[in-house]
Amino acid sequence: MNLLHRRICRSDSWAARMRSQILPWACRGVPLHADVLEIGPGYGVATGWLLEQGGRVTAVEVDPVLAAALRERLGDRADVRTGDGADLPFPDGSFDAVVCFTMLHHVPSALQQDRLFAQAARVLRPGGVFAGSDSRAGLFFRLLHVADTMVVVDPGSLSGRLRSAGFADAAVDTVPRAIRFRATR
Ligand SMILES: C[S@@+](CC[C@H](N)C(=O)[O-])C[C@H]1O[C@@H](n2cnc3c(N)ncnc32)[C@H](O)[C@@H]1O
Repeated sequence: MNLLHRRICRSDSWAARMRSQILPWACRGVPLHADVLEIGPGYGVATGWLLEQGGRVTAVEVDPVLAAALRERLGDRADVRTGDGADLPFPDGSFDAVVCFTMLHHVPSALQQDRLFAQAARVLRPGGVFAGSDSRAGLFFRLLHVADTMVVVDPGSLSGRLRSAGFADAAVDTVPRAIRFRATR
């Protein structure tokens, strides 16, 4: 993430938008009370909210500095690992829910995104749910990603990609600035 992006991701206004709009919308009906894996927690805005939902939360963050800071902040409340969502260090069938928010566009290619989807399917128990949200590309979003990774997910092809990754069903919704998806193992 570039510096402006980092500033936004740790801002109070981003936390407020996540908590009031994005997380309730993306997680409606998702089983968050059991074993939950979050991919790409960044500064941990969603991680804190997930902990409040009562589950056992594990988070995998590819940036070692962000992962270490979140690990230190949350202590034993969550299991925070440094790692790649496209190469998860967990056995098959470890989680009831896998979630990710505003991170898929930071995965540098569609192929790597598909690997991440396949890993999410692998670590879910049968009947488990993979859900999340991402931004849609507008002018401000493009400016925010100057000199930064931005591989925006096409909402039209996402459900097919999720089925190809091993999910039994998948649904995608869009609003003007965001998409949400939900797929069942
Ligand atoms: C824009 S931030 C969003 C952070 C947080 N989910 C939020 O909504 O505030 C994207 C995060 O995903 C992380 N990330 C990118 N690719 C990843 C990958 N392959 N595996 C795990 N984390 C990844 C980045 O390091 C960054 O912390």
